[in-house]
Amino acid sequence: MNAAPEPVVSVLLDPDRAGDSLIDDVRRGLGSHPRTLSPKWLYDDRGSELFDQITKLPDYYPFAAEHEILSEHADEIAAASGASTLIELGSGTSEKSRILLDAFTATGRLQRFSPVDVSEATLRQATEALAERYPGLQVEAVVGDFTLHLAQLPGGDCRTIAFLGSTIGNLYREERAAFLGALSDVLLPGDSLLLGVDLVKSVDRLIAAYHDRDGVTEDFVRNVLHVLNRELGGEIDPGGFSYVPFWDPQMERMDLRLRAEMPQRVRLPGAELDFTLACGEEVRVEISTKFRVSGISAELEEVGLAVRQVWTDREGDFAVLLAGKPAR
Ligand code: SAH
Ligand code: AVI
Repeated sequence: MNAAPEPVVSVLLDPDRAGDSLIDDVRRGLGSHPRTLSPKWLYDDRGSELFDQITKLPDYYPFAAEHEILSEHADEIAAASGASTLIELGSGTSEKSRILLDAFTATGRLQRFSPVDVSEATLRQATEALAERYPGLQVEAVVGDFTLHLAQLPGGDCRTIAFLGSTIGNLYREERAAFLGALSDVLLPGDSLLLGVDLVKSVDRLIAAYHDRDGVTEDFVRNVLHVLNRELGGEIDPGGFSYVPFWDPQMERMDLRLRAEMPQRVRLPGAELDFTLACGEEVRVEISTKFRVSGISAELEEVGLAVRQVWTDREGDFAVLLAGKPAR
């Protein structure tokens, strides 16, 4: 492989995080019932660092399970995809991207890798490290929002878009449908989607994965209040909230909330919000939907994407699906 140009980082996001999108999100979310915040605001520098710690917790099985699948099947995945461009949505530290990149570069076809994330500092760090590790690869990172910027991602004649970690489970049902529809719109015949999804399992294991005894997940969820204070000039007391994770059996999702332990004034001048949460009132910060292979395959079919292959780990905790448009 010839030496590739220096890595490029394009910024599609408003560099001012307190821009319209945060303000709109917070106004809409905190004004609805239950009060809700969007999980994309969890990932400032501290949030990204806390998520990285979560992936190392013994009870947080999704990371290890997906890692196992990719390690065992990356060559097969690379051969089935045949991609010359690999795009990864919500790539974070790109730890798992490396498993794919080792296999995809070994095919001799891959020319370009484009990691996409809202967390700029984490993305820049990952980009530097990847450019060093894969000197022949063009690394074109995008600081962007995968719910907004799919159409602006790098083109190419044979692209695989990877969306790992079950981050799709953090989208609400209607957001997920809109996202999959938008993804299908940008995929051409010959392109593919590599999707990692966490599977429905026993409630005990799910609770253990989202309620660790060291309180890392709790800090991760509570961090959103620090983000709001910083970006919107607020004075919310994060210590005044307890962490309430529970399994919602109807929706088959974890529901991660913060509960006001006494009346809490929520003053966010940057969003022109000032109200009081009653004692016991909850704010939903994140959901983490769990899937069945049949259900997610049907959702993909609905937007015109056919599932070609499915891989699971030995325990059957997690699945990675390769899907694409039927050839014209
Ligand atoms: N894919 C990695 C990281 C998962 S954590 C893994 O499997 O381990 C989720 C990542 O998605 C974070 O890095 C976060 O910053 C990013 N993210 C969350 N919402 C996003 C959005 N709307 N657009 C782009 N990135 C987003
Ligand atoms: C990134 N995402 C898939 C994680 C999850 O499991 O839903 C985020 C997370 N929240 C708490 N722990 C991990």
